[in-house]
Amino acid sequence: MGNAPVVELRGITKRFGSVVANDDVSLEVHAHEILSVLGENGSGKTTLMNILSGIYRPDEGQIFVNGQEVRICSPRDALSLKIGMIHQHYRLVNLFTAAENIILGLDSEKSVLDMNGIKRKIRGIIDSFGFDLDLDKKVYEMSVSQKQTIEIIKALYRGADVLILDEPTAVLTPQETEKLFTVLRNMKASGKAIIIITHKLQEVLEVSDRVTVLRRGKNAGSLVTSESDIPTLVEKMVGERVSLDIARTPPVNPSPRLKVEKVSCRNSDGHYSLHDVSFTANSGEILGVAGIAGGGMKELLEAIAGIQPVKSGSIAYCDGETETELVGKKPFLIRRLGVALSFVPEDRLGMGLVGSMGITDNVMLRGYEAGGSPFVDRESPQRKAEEIIEMLQISAPDTDTPVRRLSGGNVQKVLVGREISSNPTVLMVAYPVRGLDINSSYTIYNLLSEQKRKGVAVICVIEDLDVLLELCDRILVLNNGRVTGNLDASAVTKDEIGLLMTSASAAKTH
Ligand SMILES: Nc1ncnc2c1ncn2[C@@H]1O[C@H](COP(=O)(O)OP(=O)(O)OP(=O)(O)O)[C@@H](O)[C@H]1O
Ligand SMILES: [Mg+2]
Repeated sequence: MGNAPVVELRGITKRFGSVVANDDVSLEVHAHEILSVLGENGSGKTTLMNILSGIYRPDEGQIFVNGQEVRICSPRDALSLKIGMIHQHYRLVNLFTAAENIILGLDSEKSVLDMNGIKRKIRGIIDSFGFDLDLDKKVYEMSVSQKQTIEIIKALYRGADVLILDEPTAVLTPQETEKLFTVLRNMKASGKAIIIITHKLQEVLEVSDRVTVLRRGKNAGSLVTSESDIPTLVEKMVGERVSLDIARTPPVNPSPRLKVEKVSCRNSDGHYSLHDVSFTANSGEILGVAGIAGGGMKELLEAIAGIQPVKSGSIAYCDGETETELVGKKPFLIRRLGVALSFVPEDRLGMGLVGSMGITDNVMLRGYEAGGSPFVDRESPQRKAEEIIEMLQISAPDTDTPVRRLSGGNVQKVLVGREISSNPTVLMVAYPVRGLDINSSYTIYNLLSEQKRKGVAVICVIEDLDVLLELCDRILVLNNGRVTGNLDASAVTKDEIGLLMTSASAAKTH
């Protein structure tokens, strides 16, 4: 790049107590450029971007905007320098419309009387970058992807020329990701500078012009994307070549563990979210569940766990000769049978973990829900917490550090690790690698395989069909709440599954 960078970070260091989150890090981004920031969980990406967007002050180092050294002490300062950040946790008012949220907090808000003029301006932004948004819709009626669109437009409305997006695709479907990338390319063409954090290496290669890699808080170097490939990126990130393989072994003495028969559930609006769903999950096997967003995966796992009311049908938990009906049972009784559910939500702290508590307390909470007493035994949760940290290489100062201080990916490892370490007989995981770096993702896949070898019936919802095919023994395809496929994973292709997920008349079993 011949032109001067719009933003340059030089020698940034940021410490949190004894943790050095950024250690002498430098980075630059130009107009007409998309820069990826890549690094393992906890490598300091969010911290660095929070410094650029005025949330944290660096302990050392300099920031230059258009060649001038600047001090950025607040998000407002950053915006006045035309730098806007889209965080992982959206800050929108649910009861307001899209348009109201976009202008919220602006001085010009006082002239809300001219809402038509404001909307015209927003529509101008929508049209010029190719967004898709209904300005009059209220936020509580919106999907995550639509909420994200509001956040981006909000930054653009405030005049941002540098846009920072922290893992924007972690919670998007592949289709939504494509839409976002089209918008980003349009923004780039118009001269904006874009910084995007993502763990998905394919996306890095697809959308960015350059990549800056962080390794344990330090600069590991910058690369031109077109001269790079996945193994190179992984090596830069981890510091050594790593093999990314899933060790799939044949099922071990599979026998029926869960018999799901003709299960139907209805939404609050009366529509069927699950319709006559039948299948068997075997112990010693991994059953993958595939489907597009809204296909019924969430409802299915929740129905098994007892947290989704079942309208009709039966779910039998089999233990040798004994069969126990799960429909109608309280969730904690189902958990006691060893049925564990780890659903990694779009907002990782929003469900399942208490941000102000440490790992030990969060592990204990899980035990308490399962019917144990929260007061008696602190020692075993402590040991479990240590086990989880070891098993998933969680970087946390200790087991009592509030989980909200951990990096996004490390929070999530706690969430998944807690279920795996509960010695389940049925382990259900949904989106277990959301926000995890590539190495940790493979650690999780291999832990799931290990559970299978121990005889656990594993059921997993994973968006990446390549992974699903490599990891699972069988694949159940859901389409609009109905089963459209129940297939041997070694005898099916990605395209076939894709079709079964989307096509209206599809149905296949073998
Ligand atoms: N407010 C804070 N207080 C204490 N430690 C913090 C705080 N914010 C971040 N850290 C620590 O700084 C380090 C870097 O965290 P950061 O969130 O920047 O990582 P990241 O690269 O964004 O990771 P991920 O990919 O998991 O989101 C981690 O060890 C984290 O625990
Ligand atoms: Mg982060």
